[in-house]
Amino acid sequence: MSERLEDIAIRMVAEGKGILAADESTGTINKRFDSIKIENTEENRRDYREMLFGAEEAMKNNVSGVILFDETIRQKAKGGTPFVDMIAKTGAVPGIKVDKGAKDLPRFPGEKITEGLDGLPERMKEYYDLGARFAKWRAVITIGDGGRPSWNCINANAHALARYAVICQEAGIVPIVEPEVLMDGPDAKHDIDRCYEVTVWMLNTVFHQLMLAGVSLEGMVLKPNMIVPGQHSGKKASVEEVAEKTVKALKNTVPPAVPGIAFLSGGQSDEEATAHLSAMNAMHDLPWTLTFSYGRALQAAALSAWGGKAENVKAARAAFTHRARMNGLAATGGWKAELEKEAA
Ligand code: 13P
Repeated sequence: MSERLEDIAIRMVAEGKGILAADESTGTINKRFDSIKIENTEENRRDYREMLFGAEEAMKNNVSGVILFDETIRQKAKGGTPFVDMIAKTGAVPGIKVDKGAKDLPRFPGEKITEGLDGLPERMKEYYDLGARFAKWRAVITIGDGGRPSWNCINANAHALARYAVICQEAGIVPIVEPEVLMDGPDAKHDIDRCYEVTVWMLNTVFHQLMLAGVSLEGMVLKPNMIVPGQHSGKKASVEEVAEKTVKALKNTVPPAVPGIAFLSGGQSDEEATAHLSAMNAMHDLPWTLTFSYGRALQAAALSAWGGKAENVKAARAAFTHRARMNGLAATGGWKAELEKEAA
């Protein structure tokens, strides 16, 4: 298989496939495990990921890549096979989350800056040797009172994303550039048009910084939020409105040299995330592939079906396979609500 950045990026957005974001940090997976009342132990984390990566039909047909956490990229399945080998055997590309999380941005209350650039070239080398061929860095932008987002928050995060992206490419690793304008959280009272405005601002700033840093656009994948109202706005947007406004935001900001855009789900329901993606692909002929890189919207059904019990692995894999298939269809604009009933 070609190791050129451009070719890896194209494999990551292959037709009818998308990326499984299974890179929850130990703290984030704790929240997921709390919801099914299981303990956050290394063994449970391994069993959970083994349930996902061992869903062969989903992995082979609809998963182009898997984002792993530092612990997971070093972990083995119960039978001794390294997860990286298990994933690569299905044809999916193993990837790694390399940021060290979003920390408080000094002097800008309620805003975050993503850290993790120190020592990144050395860590990248190790991850390459462990089998990673792409990486992820997530920047977080909060819309809210008190002038949020600030210019400083947008600029500092865009700059960090560009520094990260160029370090990845130097190491032969495709960067997923993820600037997330949050839809959830206690402050998310904004409407869809404010989400549009801030997302366009952020994406323009990110591409400007990528250009200054010398990042090759052909060798990256963009992971943006969709244009949706804030969780506490009290307003609901139609599928068509979300699709139209998201495509408009992307057309205004993302150069056609970028091979693919893989959305995060960000707190949308499973079915909303699928419906929005499908509508965008059905309604538009676009210069980039539009697909998914979902965490919650791909895993929620499987997580609750699993519930931490070995006897539920089959049912959990079936739930994951269904969700992956629905999103695979959405990636080509071919999803229909009636197909959801087949899950039962
Ligand atoms: P969600 O789809 O749950 O937003 O997660 C995607 C992700 O990788 C966030 O960094």
